[in-house]
Amino acid sequence: MSEKKQQVSRRQFLNYTLTGVGGFMAASMLAPMVRFAIDPVLTASTAGEMQAVVDVSEITTDPQRFDWTVEQVDAWYTSDVTHSAWVYKNENDEIVPLSPTCTHLGCSVSWAGNEDYPDQFYCPCHDGRYQKDGTNVADTPPPAPLALYEYEVRDGTLYLGQPVPRGGV
Ligand code: FES
Repeated sequence: MSEKKQQVSRRQFLNYTLTGVGGFMAASMLAPMVRFAIDPVLTASTAGEMQAVVDVSEITTDPQRFDWTVEQVDAWYTSDVTHSAWVYKNENDEIVPLSPTCTHLGCSVSWAGNEDYPDQFYCPCHDGRYQKDGTNVADTPPPAPLALYEYEVRDGTLYLGQPVPRGGV
């Protein structure tokens, strides 16, 4: 058996060298582009976290509207989004944090927003009404109760998460 000595021709050497250098240059250019493309995915968002809203001592038995702002990252665009809740304590001293979004077509409801119904939430868009606990009043447009926010109390502060829809009839 004869052993042939493997020799690299000048053409092969040039091919290997150019392929290696070209690959290195392509990787150098693509790496920052890939990093830029997936950067929003790697950035933590605060949208889904519990947010501090109000000191519990400020919550009364009458619904009050509280607003808070969350920084929202939408791909490469960052903006401040304001959220609201109607919050009160019921007869069992439990906190009731209601979403202000009408379950009919999404307008904002107000507590005692109609002087004819001073103990109800009122939606001005189509005369929708809700009881104090957020239950929709029969024969008004809303098909479901107001959503209830997830909540927790930490160190005397009310934190709210996402509004959780309640089933309608
Ligand atoms: S949007 Fe509220 S009643 Fe229609």
